[in-house]
Amino acid sequence: MPKKAQVKESPAVIADRQRRLKWWREARFGMFIHYGLYAQMGRGEWVMNRERIPVDEYDKLADTFAPKRGCADEWAAAAKAANMKYVVLTTKHHEGFCLWDTQQTDFNSVKRGPGRDIVAEYVAACRKAGLRVGLYYSLMDWRHADGAKAYNNEKARARLVDFTHNCVRELMTNYGKIDVLWYDVMWPLKTADRWRASELNAMARKLQPDILINNRTGLPEDFCTPEGHIKPEEGKAWESCMTFNGSWGYVPMAPEEWLSPKKVLEMLRQCANGGGNLLLNIGPEGDGAVPALAIDRMTRVGKWLRQYGEAVYGQFDPIKELEGWAGIGWWSRRGNLCYYWITAVWPGQSFSIGGLLTKVKSVKLMPTDKPLPFTQTKDRLLIQGLPKTCPDKNCDVGMLKIEFAGEPKQRLGEGTVYYKAY
Ligand code: GLC
Repeated sequence: MPKKAQVKESPAVIADRQRRLKWWREARFGMFIHYGLYAQMGRGEWVMNRERIPVDEYDKLADTFAPKRGCADEWAAAAKAANMKYVVLTTKHHEGFCLWDTQQTDFNSVKRGPGRDIVAEYVAACRKAGLRVGLYYSLMDWRHADGAKAYNNEKARARLVDFTHNCVRELMTNYGKIDVLWYDVMWPLKTADRWRASELNAMARKLQPDILINNRTGLPEDFCTPEGHIKPEEGKAWESCMTFNGSWGYVPMAPEEWLSPKKVLEMLRQCANGGGNLLLNIGPEGDGAVPALAIDRMTRVGKWLRQYGEAVYGQFDPIKELEGWAGIGWWSRRGNLCYYWITAVWPGQSFSIGGLLTKVKSVKLMPTDKPLPFTQTKDRLLIQGLPKTCPDKNCDVGMLKIEFAGEPKQRLGEGTVYYKAY
């Protein structure tokens, strides 16, 4: 963030942002796609830097780059299967290779390798599938002659910044409506001023009045981007981006290194509770194929979301007076209606939730909403009539819906009695 005090935004600017954010908040779940030359090596998107591969040697990857026909349709299909509502593709990652028909450099997918405009294919595939379209653009560029020099050479900086603005202008001009502009890594210029970021983003907004812009030009813009962790940002729109298997770019990891469907759902619960989004990454293989394992797991997540979506979509209230660690389950709350996510282990036909201080009106088992018999005594809600095994055979995440007569409160403490409550 810039050191200077932010200019206070007018109510009209704030209202316009809320308008633009509406679909995005409702979407909750999107797909990040890291695809570039590095996918061919299968050692992650930082391979050029981590292995200090010289530009000339890395350059050869542009000739062998061969995304298979229709790969963008496969990405879109995978996102749909997962019930994701938007997608963000790396149009140019740190390696500097452009996946679109740019006039700014020949190091692009039209002049080299496939001879195709992958961004155009991607945008068309998303639209056909009814997905919102996001474009990622890395400011940092390991290939550009001024990519590092710009740090302490004003002429180099001017060239790099012009190049950047021109690239973004093309992306914002040549592909119809774009919903998200997702910048990354400000190195080596470090400040928004040195990238002329206000001007850059003003240009993007002029070309795309409804666009959402992330905060990685050093300006707050529309949403924050916690990376690798889920952390609500008070009063701001936020989106956690997470890898599927520890790497953004393709790495053929062992199956146990990939997120289980249950883990993805736990992330979604945390995002929903904090009012944020989850941008879950896939790193397509060298030829653009989505790893089969990711498709399988995301499809299971999508199937679950179609049955249990009310516990994920929409607005939730802070857990506040409920315990964060509530036994075998975790809470989300919408007013006096709570969702109890049974993720640890299925309890069998009965179990209880301790320490509830508010009267319970009903307990229902999702996804059928079958009412379950319960008895509530002073410190214990005993729930019965559950099936022997988890009704969800797909992700092994069961869900109870518990309606309370007033604001739900729970006190467990460490002992057998919660002293403050009595
Ligand atoms: C980091 C990494 C980059 C990745 C990004 C995703 O900035 O440098 O490889 O694309 O995170 O948020």
